[in-house]
This record gives sequence, C-alpha cells and structure tokens, in this order.
Amino acid sequence: MTLRYSLIKRFNQTKPFYVTTPIFYVNASPHLGHLYSMLIADTRSRWEKLNPKNSSYMLTGTDEHGLKIQTVAEKQGIDPKLLCDQVSKNFKDLSNKFNIDYDRFIRTTDQDHIKVTHYFWNIMKEKGLIEKGSHSGWYCVSDETFYPEANTEEIEKNGKTIRISSETKNEVIYQEETNYFFKLSAFQDQLIKYLKENPNFIKPTHRYKFILNELMTTKLPDLSISRPSSRLKWSIEVPNDSTQKIYVWFDALLNYLTATGFPNGFEQDSKYVTPKNNLWPATHIIGKDIIRFHCIYWPIFLLAAGIELPKQIIVHSHWLCEGFKMSKSLGNVVDPIEMSEFYGIDSIRFFLIENSNIDDDCKFSENLLERSRDSLLGKYCNLLSRIGGINFNIEESVQYYKNSQFNDIKTFIKNNSIKKEIVPTILQISNELQENLNNLYDNMNQKIIEFDYIRAIQLWWQVINQANQLFQISEPWLYVKALNSNTNHQSSRLDPEMIKNYKKLINYYVYLCSETIRISSILIQPIIPSLSNDILNRLNVEPSKRNSNFVKIGKDLNYGKDANSKIHKLPLQKLKSRIK
Ligand code: ME8
Ligand code: MG
Repeated sequence: MTLRYSLIKRFNQTKPFYVTTPIFYVNASPHLGHLYSMLIADTRSRWEKLNPKNSSYMLTGTDEHGLKIQTVAEKQGIDPKLLCDQVSKNFKDLSNKFNIDYDRFIRTTDQDHIKVTHYFWNIMKEKGLIEKGSHSGWYCVSDETFYPEANTEEIEKNGKTIRISSETKNEVIYQEETNYFFKLSAFQDQLIKYLKENPNFIKPTHRYKFILNELMTTKLPDLSISRPSSRLKWSIEVPNDSTQKIYVWFDALLNYLTATGFPNGFEQDSKYVTPKNNLWPATHIIGKDIIRFHCIYWPIFLLAAGIELPKQIIVHSHWLCEGFKMSKSLGNVVDPIEMSEFYGIDSIRFFLIENSNIDDDCKFSENLLERSRDSLLGKYCNLLSRIGGINFNIEESVQYYKNSQFNDIKTFIKNNSIKKEIVPTILQISNELQENLNNLYDNMNQKIIEFDYIRAIQLWWQVINQANQLFQISEPWLYVKALNSNTNHQSSRLDPEMIKNYKKLINYYVYLCSETIRISSILIQPIIPSLSNDILNRLNVEPSKRNSNFVKIGKDLNYGKDANSKIHKLPLQKLKSRIK
C-alpha cells in the first residue's frame, strides 16, 4: 500500500488535526524539555481523538544530519549512522515509555524524507531561487547557525580567548567557503503581509509581535543552505553537485511535509494545492529557541514553493533547572526516565501539563512534582476511595438514576436530611457541580484548543473539588451508620419508609461523586491516559463509552458493576518523600 493511499484511506472523510513536535537532535540523550514538547503535542492529539467525529495525526522524530552530529560521532569514534540509530532509539523509547501516542516517528535519514528534500531543492532551483556564492561568518556548530558578528562576543575560557554567541553562549568559529544561497529577502514582504492578515498564525501573541517586528525592521539576509562536502560529510547531498551538502535546517524543516506524502496527491497548478483529505497544513509545536527557523525560514520556503502555510505555530517556553535552560552543555538536565521510575509516568505527565505555561519559563523542582502527585492522590483518587468502599454501592446508585428515582430529589433532600441547616448549601453545591460537569467538555475544549492547558486543568480540578466538598458536607456515612445500627440493634428500628429514604439519599450523593469521577476521568485521558483508565476500569465503564459522547450526567447508565468490593487497591500509591 502506498503512503498516500494509506493516509487517505485512514482519514476517509474528515481532515485530521495534524500536530508536530520539533525533531530532536541525536547528539545527546533526551531530557525533560524534549518530553515536554512531545507532551504538548500528544495531549492535543489525544484530545482531538476523544471526539469520535474527529481524527488527528501526531508526528515526532529525530533530526539526524549536520555538523553537530558529525562532530559527536567523530569524538566517539563511531559511524554517524550508528550514533543516529542508537540515540534516535533513546528518543523513541522515551516517547513509548511516556505513552506518547504518535502516528509516525520520523527520522531524517528515512528514505522518503531524503527524496522529499531533493524534490524540494529542485523546486527552488527551477524557480531560480537558489544561487551559488561565497560566504564567510561566525558559525555555531552547537546551534547549527551563523550569527552576525554583533551578536557574538569574546570570552576567556581555560586560558584561551574564544568567541561565543551572546544569545546561547555556545562557541562560534569563523568560516569562509562556497555555499548555495536561498533568496529569503524576496519573500519578506509577502510574509509580512501574511502575518498581518493572520494574527493568530504564531501563538502566544508576544512571539507573533516579536517576529513581525523583526521582519519589519531588519532586511533578511540571503540564507546559506549548503556546506562544502569536504567539511560537512554527514548530510544529504545537493542534487547534481557532489561537492555540496544540504544545510541541516533546510532538510529538517521538510520533515513536516514528508509525513504528508508530499508531493504525492498535491495537485500542481501554479501552486501546490493541498488534497482534501491530506494531513497538511500542520500545527507546529516548537520551543522558543527555534522560533526564527519555524516562523521566518519555514513559511518563506513554503511561500517560495507555492505550498499552503502551516495552520499555526505554537511557541512554548523552557524548563529551567537551577535557573538555567535545561541543556546538555550546561549539565543541568533532568532525566525523565529516572524521575518516572520513582514517581510513575502519569504523575510526570500531569505535572508537566499542569504547569504548562507556554508564555513563561517554568522552573523544575521535585518539590512541585511531589505536590502535584499528592493532589492527584489526595483529591482525584481519594474521591474514588470515598465512594468505592463496601458501605456504598456505585452500581446501585447508577440504577437509581436509570429508574428516575432522583427526579424529585430537591424536595426530597429538604424533607429527609438529618441535618436541616446544611440543606441549602448541599443544594447549591450539587447544582453547581452538575452544571460544571455538563459543561466540562466544552469549557475544557475552549482552553485546550488554545493550548491553555493550565486553565483546562483548573476547570477539571473544580469539579473534583466540588464533588469532594459535596461528599464532605452531605455526610452520607451518617445515613449508612443509621442503617447499620438499625440492623444491629433490634430496639431502635427505623420504619421501612425511612430505610428507603436514607438509601436514596446515600445513592444520590454517591451517584454525583461517581459521575464526577467518570466524566472527569474520560476528560483527563489525554493527559494521564493510564491512571484515568485504571480508574475507569475500576468503575467498570465500557471502553467504547470513554469518549466525548458520554461526558454528561446520565449518558452512561450501565457501569459500576463490582466497583465496591474489597479486592480493589488504589491505582496510585502514597510515596515516602525522597527530597532531602
Ligand atoms: O532544535 N525546555 O532540536 P533540539 C523546554 N533539531 N523545551 C525544551 C528544552 C527545555 N529546557 N530543551 C529543549 C532542535 N526543548 C532541532 C529542531 S525541528 C525541524 C528541528 C525542546 O534537540 C524545544 O522544543 O535541540 C526545542 O525546540 C526542542 O526540544 C528540540 O531541541
Ligand atoms: Mg537545542
């Protein structure tokens, strides 16, 4: 089956939501920052799939060419492809371990990608946009980019004077050579126009303003898109010129098109028309360090080739550790695998997304991670323990609802509660809770499609907190106690009517808490897929009913079987703190 056919077959009628992560350099092991980019994309992609009417496609992978990889391979004395195979596997293992539900893990050494890169180069060449010229300037291997001299500075290091980039502090070296150039500036005005017409193209807004301002105030220089093969060995060759290799960023950005099957299926007129069922255009998730490449070079490459621009570019900030961006060169990286061995996968997923403030840098601390995990345990899982014991019966409470036994519940609570003074509070909380539960999907959806995950999670916490509060204040255990002592002590018999009434009250409170757990668990699946599913399993919710068609009260009338038996253990265990 050809790639094109399989993509079209899979997506049948609806256009999938296509989301990408940056592809990661294979010069070092993956760290928490890389995982973060993957998680933002994974959460969005899974959220889309929660609605059976929608589909999504998530792309992630590794960026394997360039001087940076070549240098590391030389230092280790191994073949660059072997290094790529090893380190790429580490990234793949990390994404699998963390349940990243990607649709393709692309490697820029994949054959179809190399073909697309050649194809794309030739389009540009045929349009006369690529020219040979000589080039000199300060190149930074670590960042795989040239810097203007004004953006570099000299420093002393180990008794030697070296020059570094003022921005990234990585070393730059002077290079003079023959390269192919791409005429970026020819498209500067077109991109400015596009940005002005599409103010949501880059998010958050301050990043959009930054790029627009840069484009309006500085003339773009021509971009060197190749290097002499004598120096850069480990890269894709320039078509019909074996003396030159393609610049790694030119190759890397094209990965987003490779996954769409480009150029297959794209109709070519004066432009490439995106096929109706094709993945393209993508929503790109990137870190702020690579904004220029994605928000200036990439759209210009696409404009030049006549391909539709990406749908949106979401720029996130960095995780800092000890005050600095986590990076291998600074030696302050947090190893997500090691962390997960102690805290578990979903605790880390939840923590990263709960703190997913894409606007500002986030500070990593194990203390915060621990607190975030404690909340999951103490509020979310605890709500289940409260109603999951043998004194209650979740299945029965669902049946009560099914048989319309809660229809007159307001008056019923007023007339039958043991403590009359708290009835107004109970009614108020249960009203608010029901309203919030029924609106939770729509409200979270509004935040999630804006990548405002923090606020989506706040809405989620709100229902968990309200249900806990309702349970606390309505004290269903008082009725259980009354019923139990009734069977134990012959003397203080409750009349049968009372027994029925007490049971109904108990089941009502249990039902609202149980619906809170069911609905909130369905909606938190994109963030904590494993923990939420353990909880849904415990409630015995059918797998086919764990989607957005079932996220209102009463939408699932057949769950809860065996939820209240002694055999269950909570899916998350209390940990003894390891923080000194
Ligand atoms: O730049 N906090 O790859 P890369 C948050 N290959 N995110 C971080 C982070 C941190 N401390 N450190 C890294 C490249 N990231 C290119 C991309 S795309 C066509 C080519 C994230 O391995 C951030 O999103 O250096 C960054 O952009 C990405 O990891 C890739 O880093
Ligand atoms: Mg980097």
